Amino acid sequence: MKLFSALLFSTALSLCACSKNITSITPSSGAANPLGAHIAKTESKSQGMVAAANPLATQAGLDVLKAGGSAVDAAIAVQAMLGLVEPQSSGLGGGAFMVVYDPKAAQVWAYNGRETAPSEATDALFIDPETGEPMRRFAGIASGVSTGVPGAVVMLHKAHEDYGKLPWGPQMDGAIKTAEDGFAVSPRMASITARMGRFVLKDQKAAREYFYLEDGTTTIPEGFIRDNQPYANTLRALQDNPRALLEGPIAQQIIDAVREGPNPGTLTLADMAAYQAQKTQALCSSYRAHTVCGAQPPASGGVAVQSILRILENFDMAALGQTAQGWHVFSEASFLGYADRDKYVADPDFVPVETEKMLDTAYLKSRADLISMDTAIQDVTAGNPSDFIRGQDATPDNPGTSHFTIVDKDGLVVSMTTTVEAPFGSQRMAAGFILNNQLTDFSFRSVDSNGNPIANAPAGGKRPRSSMSPSIVFNPEGEFLFSTGSPGGNSIIAYTAKTIVGILDWGLTPQEAIELPNVIARNGRISMEAKGIKDETTQEVDRGSPAEEFGMSQEIVAALEAKGHTIRRSKGEFSGLHIIYRNADGSLTGGADPRREGTAQGL
Ligand code: DON
Repeated sequence: MKLFSALLFSTALSLCACSKNITSITPSSGAANPLGAHIAKTESKSQGMVAAANPLATQAGLDVLKAGGSAVDAAIAVQAMLGLVEPQSSGLGGGAFMVVYDPKAAQVWAYNGRETAPSEATDALFIDPETGEPMRRFAGIASGVSTGVPGAVVMLHKAHEDYGKLPWGPQMDGAIKTAEDGFAVSPRMASITARMGRFVLKDQKAAREYFYLEDGTTTIPEGFIRDNQPYANTLRALQDNPRALLEGPIAQQIIDAVREGPNPGTLTLADMAAYQAQKTQALCSSYRAHTVCGAQPPASGGVAVQSILRILENFDMAALGQTAQGWHVFSEASFLGYADRDKYVADPDFVPVETEKMLDTAYLKSRADLISMDTAIQDVTAGNPSDFIRGQDATPDNPGTSHFTIVDKDGLVVSMTTTVEAPFGSQRMAAGFILNNQLTDFSFRSVDSNGNPIANAPAGGKRPRSSMSPSIVFNPEGEFLFSTGSPGGNSIIAYTAKTIVGILDWGLTPQEAIELPNVIARNGRISMEAKGIKDETTQEVDRGSPAEEFGMSQEIVAALEAKGHTIRRSKGEFSGLHIIYRNADGSLTGGADPRREGTAQGL
């Protein structure tokens, strides 16, 4: 049986390179696409807005908009600044997915800057050669093995070729100046530096020198003025050559850091030189009368957020409201959506991913029929939207990512989630920036306990599955309504879906939708922000967030438990949602997640 599955799988693999399933969207003609999406042109009446995870990054984006730059020009500025002032989350050494709405062409594009595995990688990338078992998770993260070819910058360059209004380069001036002058370390950067500093952040010389005071033992505190001349030098090199990370001396510095022990990686200059960002049409489907667009695989966020919503479409969420029944249905839809994405989503260049079948209305109605209003489904499993045999993947994620969104005066919309994966990625630096550990987003095991091959197993040149869910939502006329997305590892999907339900079904403002409690129903239990009553049976976890105030009431928690749900109460989840919403009069309203340090500001 194992052999049979493996054979089926390898047949699928050999077929798939040519069968990438990209669901197209329908331009302004108004005819429905197979998933009911409808995108039209949108008239712009605003000057623009930026919502990002750090005020310096928001300002850098606004400065570029003010100078006549487009939303894509501003995204380059925001990313350059975030890599400096929020290095725990994203940066030049990481990868990203970006969804762009072009309001004149009525098109939505998905840019893919996901890291690729070295050509020498095999499905045993994270198998300890001595034990034959998967490495301990943190040994995999803090290693050279975990670093893939960084794609965020070349992805931005590709989008700039399409939508840049300024020449490539000056967008980075603000970050260069801040790197040379120094910036005040933010509270969140200081606390995460201290937390990660207790592990291995000090093991690599470059990271130790950057993140520690001169005593070599104390991590840089809040308010410390940190400069970063190597980062400024790297940005200058990028101004001259957008591929400067992938060729020449900076690429060599990356390779050198990756090849250090322990667990050196095999990345080569040839792997770096071969990297290309991708552009496809976005994945779009209808939710009630609206249209939701997101990134394509290997991002699982697009298909997972949309399958949760399209299951919820079978319930009157507006009538259920923010009650135990409403959150029960939201949770059940999430369990079902996560189960499918765990099994079926991976890099479509290696494994066929049938997003259209996963989002099919009748299929998701059959999934919705599993939901009872009284009792939680026990042992949720993936459905069978397609005929492929897949092993069940259980890859975890970590807290180190950033989401930002920008609208410019022409109405061009950017929704971008960007990451080095874990806080401070692989815990290694080169040329002033953190190297990603994105390859730990692959499944460490290549077959599941039934012997079925896991779609998201590592392979040379493959991109690991992501939970990132940059999304753009359109009103029933097909015009831009709002953009949303979040960091938060695999919880991103639940965070993002929550905001769409909050705005469209519960009539909340963007800020109110962001401040709803985070409810993540995945893999047998619900993790949620709950008002802080210590529970004897479940562990209350303080994850360092001020989220008590966003917690779910104990009455709702108890009602969910009475239905059979297992609930892990948390004082805070790692969302960092940023939203820009277009009001009926064309003005923009932003929202920023108070669980992080972001701001939303218009011109
Ligand atoms: O691509 C992914 O899904 C993960 N590497 C994202 C990690 C993350 O969001 C951590 N967040 N706070």
